[in-house]
Amino acid sequence: MNTFEHYNPTQLIFGRGTLSQLGSHLKSFGKRVLVVYGGGSIKRNGVYDGVMEQLNGIGAVVFELGGVEPNPRLTTVHSGIALCKANDIDFILAVGGGSVIDCVKAIAVGVKYDGEVWDIISKKIYPESALSYGTVLTLAATGSEMNAASVITNWETKEKNGWWAHFNYPQFSILDPEFTFSVPKDQTINGIVDIMSHIFEQYFHHTANSPIQDSLCEAMLRTVITTAPKLLDNLDDYEARETILYAGTMALNGTLAMGTDGDWATHNIEHAVSAVYDIAHGAGLAILFPNWMEHVIDEGLGRFQQMAVQVFGVDPVHKTARETAQEGIQALRAFWDSIGAPNRLEDCLIGDDQLDVMADKAMAKGPFGEIKKLQKEDVLAIYRNSL
Ligand code: NZQ
Ligand code: ZN
Repeated sequence: MNTFEHYNPTQLIFGRGTLSQLGSHLKSFGKRVLVVYGGGSIKRNGVYDGVMEQLNGIGAVVFELGGVEPNPRLTTVHSGIALCKANDIDFILAVGGGSVIDCVKAIAVGVKYDGEVWDIISKKIYPESALSYGTVLTLAATGSEMNAASVITNWETKEKNGWWAHFNYPQFSILDPEFTFSVPKDQTINGIVDIMSHIFEQYFHHTANSPIQDSLCEAMLRTVITTAPKLLDNLDDYEARETILYAGTMALNGTLAMGTDGDWATHNIEHAVSAVYDIAHGAGLAILFPNWMEHVIDEGLGRFQQMAVQVFGVDPVHKTARETAQEGIQALRAFWDSIGAPNRLEDCLIGDDQLDVMADKAMAKGPFGEIKKLQKEDVLAIYRNSL
């Protein structure tokens, strides 16, 4: 293991009916609250009404910013910063999926920074402070509800940047599995793929001696794999929603990353695709991840072989390491196909005309990835194999 520090101050409030605790958690942060949400799902599924009831109950002065886009945009972050400054906001409440929460993270640091917030998002400037914020999560996927990372798109320059600040965790996050009942099938699938991908990104590394981390990753992957079909059969299955929601948070709250250097190349390659084509992040990952694995199979052999055996139950007897690893990659493809995830860029109406542009975006900060440092020709090969 590498030396490591672990810090995660987010108070997690999980389970049925937990929205009733929102008022008491908000009270200590001040009365002027900006509620941020997406394109309207929270108004259709009743979450908005529940949140407003809690805010009214503590006499909060409520301001609203709706319309946060999936793949949240810099322009919306600007609107949120302006609203906070104009109305002397004490606390921001994100109600939605990862996009809403990521947007709020950028608003929270942007309010405290006099310059252009894109300087922070593009990592030219490291922020010093943030306005406090909390979340009510409505979609299991990103883990943003219990981490300090955020991903924002500058639609004018078609750049999608991930950034983080060590202090920028939610003060609290409320997770009620029932709030995810209304997530449509395609977004539920995207979320499952994103959760599995986060685990893979941390499981695929070259760090020595990680038996506890490996076992945690493998157990979570097996559990998601057995739960996903049940959930997709019945989107109102409370226990399945509960398991997937908990998996999403645990997959990216720092627990699995302790002491190891995860790969994260596929996330970078995907962000370049969704920066240009505005596709769902999970859909992009489902297409790209197996192709990244095929491309780096020699460098990742040991880890892919372990995944094949421990996660997909591949029998390694009388097989070479490569054959076992290949079977594991095929098993992953077959699983994602079986739940209805896309497997080719053409499924998202993406052709070969922007491959070079996307590869340049992925390479913006130089070679990347831990299993294999990828160069532009690697990225192009992965895109081409994904067409
Ligand atoms: O906008 P509304 O109307 O709310 O609809 C959303 C949106 O259309 C809908 N939705 C959310 N909860 C719902 C619901 N529909 C019905 N019922 C509900 N309960 O789902 C759609 C997608 O929402 P979004 O928030 O975009 O999805 P997700 O949570 O997957 O977030 C994706 C974004 O997070 C970034 C991605 O790149 C992408 O921009 N990521 C953030 C990470 C982080 N902060 O740690 C890590 C991830 O790897 C990822 O990159
Ligand atoms: Zn992700």
